[in-house]
Amino acid sequence: MKFYLTTPIYYVNGRPHLGHAYTTVIGDVIARYKKLKGYDVFYLTGTDEHGGKIEKAAKSMGKTPKQLADEMVVHFRDLWKELNIEYDFFIRTTMDFHEKKVAEIFEKLKEKGYVYKGSYSGWYCYNCESFVPEDAEEENGVRICPDCGGKTEFITEENYFFRLSSFQKPLLDFYRKNPDFVQPATMMNKVVSFVESGLKDLSITRTTIGWGIKVPSDPAHVIYVWFDALFNYVTGLRDKFDKYWPADLHILGKDIIIFHAVYWPAFLMAAGYELPKKILAHGWWLVNKKKMSKHIGNVLDPKILIDAFGEDAVRYFLMRETPIGQDGNFSHESFLERYNADLANELGNILSRTTTMALKYFDGVLPSPGPKQPSDQNMEDSWKELSNQIEELYDSYQFSRALSLLWDYLRSINKYLVETEPWRLGQKDSQKTSRILLTALRALFCVLKYIYPVMPRSTEKILEAIGGKGIEFDWDAYKEGLKIKEVGKIFPRVDKEEFFKEEIKMEEKKEEKTYVTIDEFFKMGLKVGKIVEVKEAENANKLYILKVDMGDHERQLVAGLRQYYRPEELLGKKIVVVSNLKPAKIRGYESQGMLLAADVNGRPYILQVPDEVPPGTTVR
Ligand code: MSP
Repeated sequence: MKFYLTTPIYYVNGRPHLGHAYTTVIGDVIARYKKLKGYDVFYLTGTDEHGGKIEKAAKSMGKTPKQLADEMVVHFRDLWKELNIEYDFFIRTTMDFHEKKVAEIFEKLKEKGYVYKGSYSGWYCYNCESFVPEDAEEENGVRICPDCGGKTEFITEENYFFRLSSFQKPLLDFYRKNPDFVQPATMMNKVVSFVESGLKDLSITRTTIGWGIKVPSDPAHVIYVWFDALFNYVTGLRDKFDKYWPADLHILGKDIIIFHAVYWPAFLMAAGYELPKKILAHGWWLVNKKKMSKHIGNVLDPKILIDAFGEDAVRYFLMRETPIGQDGNFSHESFLERYNADLANELGNILSRTTTMALKYFDGVLPSPGPKQPSDQNMEDSWKELSNQIEELYDSYQFSRALSLLWDYLRSINKYLVETEPWRLGQKDSQKTSRILLTALRALFCVLKYIYPVMPRSTEKILEAIGGKGIEFDWDAYKEGLKIKEVGKIFPRVDKEEFFKEEIKMEEKKEEKTYVTIDEFFKMGLKVGKIVEVKEAENANKLYILKVDMGDHERQLVAGLRQYYRPEELLGKKIVVVSNLKPAKIRGYESQGMLLAADVNGRPYILQVPDEVPPGTTVR
């Protein structure tokens, strides 16, 4: 009864956001549920710290990749702590044992002939350090990088290749024998058709990237970051490998399904390991219909929600709002509505009604109840039926559906209380009141078993309050005589208007910052100029003194371009000038305006104007 589950390891080029939290929360809910069911669980998470992405991000911040990783890893660990994630090990791919093992596996595959040296030709973007896809747009016969929009160069690189093409048949056989390998089924179909359409050998080293694990027998080559990263699932088990391998469940987002469902099993087959049992692919959290991502800049820091609502509310929302596999649109409004309706109202009401009456009428200890009535039997029977259904849904990772049914049941408990009106009876008929409260509390107690994996801390508080701690989750196990205590509001209602007042204030501030009116924009005197002279500034080695023809006059601009452009590259260029910028002295030289350039991590790319546009033309 072992269960080994993993999250992807997260890139350390930025702080964690709600999308990362989602994958890790799903893992934690499953890990806790499996533990409840008696499994010996191992839950692995960690960070992916090598490769060009991290190298580039670090460079733009003036840090070494390791410094950046060391800083970022703290944010991930902190967030997992705040979200109450109970992982068993946090792997970093810069850990010694991982690097050694990956290099060893690489050499083994080389010896076995699964890895060979070849050459790869393609259009390469030096800015992004990656080959651009075949269908990238072209301009004058040169491919344009879809990520940064820069020009690429056709290069031929010597690489090591993995014989992925030989695994087409073994993979298809494996999928046929394990049709549920990938969940949901739509993703499985995508994977099968990807493999059916043919597999090319995969380049698994880079010579253009320095930050990564070197191939021991050929150290000019650095192992491709995905080969390195995927093996974390093996190395992360360390001395527990024999006990826990193969993985029972890899949880990941749909964007990285091909890496996990195609490359990963192929690497494992080649290296002689057993294959993982299941891959669970979830959808994306979108903000304004776009995937939340650092690249787009629409990320949501989960800490803000945790501070305002507590970690359990965040966990609940993530698990309840969208079924795993589908995309979810995040909005504060839907978060708040769900919080108030499900947690503050439905769950909060049962708890406060039952505990308040138990304390008021019986000093917190329910006396012996009167004989069971059909309405009590009804609650019990419907729970027994529902609990089987919930087990099935949890076992197949359909948490959203399960939670929706559990909340229907909570609603029925509140309805039962409203119909039986124990507050009218009070101590007058203590047997009857006790029976009603006991039925409601038993029903709540049973539901808590399934709420626990999703909201562990709050569940423990509720169990403590109703005297149910340490008792096996079973209808009859919760009895009269237990000590019920005063409990404050676990999920205090958050007033929508107040909340949005704050939100709107934030939005308004943002608007002030990010928008300019069209009139404001037109105040900028953008004009075309032509560079007619380039001189190096004498006392500043980064600056050029440019003479620019503006159509009806010439003017002088001072620009920090010396590191990036040679004088002959600038001469004759038509550029965009902010012509009405207040003149300023830079290192003793007067600059009468500014030229426009795109800023890619601090490196300027001058905006150029087509040749036929004469100097002095207005730009708008
Ligand atoms: N480093 C790789 C994984 C290597 S695993 C051997 C990687 N890292 S990542 O940081 O970009 O993403 C990690 C996980 O976060 C993925 O499962 C991804 O799907 C998830 N999410 C990132 N943004 C997301 C959303 N907006 N919504 C939901 N999850 C998304 O890929």
